[in-house]
Amino acid sequence: MGAHEIRKICIVGAGNMGHQIALSGALAGFQVKCTDVNEEVLQKAEQFVTTYLPQRVSKGKLTQAQADVARANLTFTNHLSEAASDADLVIEAIIERLDIKRKLFAELDRLCPSHTILTTNSSYIVSSKIVDVTNRPEKVCNLHFFNPALVMKLVEVVKGPHTSEETAQTLMDVCVGMGKTPVLLKQEIYGFLVNRMLAAIKNESIYLLDMGIAGHEEIDTAVTLALGHPMGPFRLMDLTGIDLTYIVGMERFQETGDPIYRPSPTISEKFAKKEYGRKTGKGFYEYPEK
Ligand code: 3HC
Repeated sequence: MGAHEIRKICIVGAGNMGHQIALSGALAGFQVKCTDVNEEVLQKAEQFVTTYLPQRVSKGKLTQAQADVARANLTFTNHLSEAASDADLVIEAIIERLDIKRKLFAELDRLCPSHTILTTNSSYIVSSKIVDVTNRPEKVCNLHFFNPALVMKLVEVVKGPHTSEETAQTLMDVCVGMGKTPVLLKQEIYGFLVNRMLAAIKNESIYLLDMGIAGHEEIDTAVTLALGHPMGPFRLMDLTGIDLTYIVGMERFQETGDPIYRPSPTISEKFAKKEYGRKTGKGFYEYPEK
């Protein structure tokens, strides 16, 4: 199926990533249904859209007509079947737990039409760990967006050994249709391209902090001013979630036994104190508005 046949997108998971991917799709003219099992998360997502669109109009970034069309293109529902049953493309953006993703993909395979492409926005779980619960291996793929998804242009399209060339190409084209710039990974690899590079910087930064060489603010300043990154690694962890850094590191450590992946004492302490970053109002920095 070609990208021009993809009109309806279902986003499963209305959290940080899910609702921004949903709105990106709606702004680009797709009909998007965003679903979540958690009513509170769904309401927060809808509230974000209700606040965000008028702000963009006031800022002169969108016309009122564009905002109205985007709002009309986007619906929220807590019924997975309602969101998935007529979708041409599903983008899963739920919790990073393999068992839960596998259960969801089995359900999606049952609910969705046979032409539907099923993708995961997972940062680390490759689609070959999920694909066997479906009857459409050639239509299963990783589609990895970046945070904040409304702003970040890059999408990694990660082709599994089961993914057809046609599916990968369709996804590349759909990303372009969403105003994004896709890159194709021809093989699955842990962390894909970007998170592998980020991990190297993040680990070194945490090492320098834990060694007492410099504080987190100094390290962030160094990375922004000398390397030209828009934000340093500590501010970035606050944005993407220290809980995610901890959970992903711990899972990888348990999987490989390699101590390089074990979350550092600093990260473990922040995780235990629920200082996850922006989402909880405190991480390496404080966010009083939360
Ligand atoms: N949601 C939506 N839009 C946002 C936003 C958010 N959370 N934060 C900022 N923006 C928008 C603003 O509205 C503004 O838009 P405009 O220029 O069109 O008016 C624009 O972004 C710039 O915002 P600000 O001026 O407030 O702030 P900055 O210039 O500091 O930009 C930033 C904020 C876009 C977050 C920038 O600092 C940045 O690009 N940081 C790096 C982000 C990054 O590295 N992301 C990748 C993370 S890794 C990842 O996602 C992998 C995954 O697996 C976890």
